[in-house]
Amino acid sequence: MSQGAEPRGVTVRVPGKINLELVVGPLREDGYHELATVFHTVGIYDYVTAIESDRWSVQVSGATAEGVPGNSTNLAIKAAKALARRYGVEGAVALGIEKNIPVAGGMAGGSADAAAALVACDALWDLQLTRDELEPIAAGLGSDVPFLLHGGTAIGSGRGERLAPVLARGELHWVLWVSNKPGLSTPQVYAECDRLRAAAGVQVADPVPSGDLVAALRTMDTDAVGAALHNDLQEAACSLYPVLDDVLEAGLELGAQGAIVSGSGPTVAFLVGTQAAAIDLSVGLAARGPDGDIRRATGPVAGAQVVQSIVPP
Ligand code: C5P
Repeated sequence: MSQGAEPRGVTVRVPGKINLELVVGPLREDGYHELATVFHTVGIYDYVTAIESDRWSVQVSGATAEGVPGNSTNLAIKAAKALARRYGVEGAVALGIEKNIPVAGGMAGGSADAAAALVACDALWDLQLTRDELEPIAAGLGSDVPFLLHGGTAIGSGRGERLAPVLARGELHWVLWVSNKPGLSTPQVYAECDRLRAAAGVQVADPVPSGDLVAALRTMDTDAVGAALHNDLQEAACSLYPVLDDVLEAGLELGAQGAIVSGSGPTVAFLVGTQAAAIDLSVGLAARGPDGDIRRATGPVAGAQVVQSIVPP
């Protein structure tokens, strides 16, 4: 650590994601499911600050901080340590995480913080790695971490870590219903999906993304995107969290052009055509319930980005 007045530090802003399509294939031998997904970053952000320090630490604050571990099990500190190990960096960082992305909400909040920690530490340690060079470490931390390094709109395959960008023109307006009760565990939702499929005798095919969604995203035709939204985990999330059926119905009755549980849930994303429609739907949902926090966001947005740097040139 350098001697002197101010410690060196870097702050990175990172968005959450929603899945516009999630096709779940067979369970693999490594415990993951083969996926075909289209995901999209939306403008709800966490901020991760890495400050040079003699020892590793993490502090969590912000609107959605409750329940996020402030110790070595936090995925962001694991990310910083993995990067240091891989590139032989000596010394440590104190991480500060300001959380706004829902926790255990199906929006990849923990993965976002890990991606942000990689980008912050890369800048702090002057490693000058590209996002592609950070990808292998990101993939080792979690299936969604590589996507949060890049952001935008992408197709994910494998367990979600293999990415191909999707051409998407313009932006989409979303209203998000966020549960104010404890969220859902991702492994439990996948297990429930397997259970429901086995009970129904479903033969699980290799996952293939639908052409309809990608075509609709090219023109950002809201009606076509709304009609093509699809999530294979939705039935499982609703089975474990039955209020989600009411949430989905309420938003559609109030005029949303599409509705989907994001990832493993329980966050529900409603698609609308304009910012004015988003405000109307937010007001309607808040008045009608079910009880939850209502947020508005547009997407796609950029992935993890340095927003402040106190590092001597
Ligand atoms: O990769 P990540 O740690 O975010 O995944 C959390 C859990 O979600 C995995 O342990 C697994 O149970 C489930 N999962 C899965 N198939 C995927 C991604 C995640 O079964 N493609």
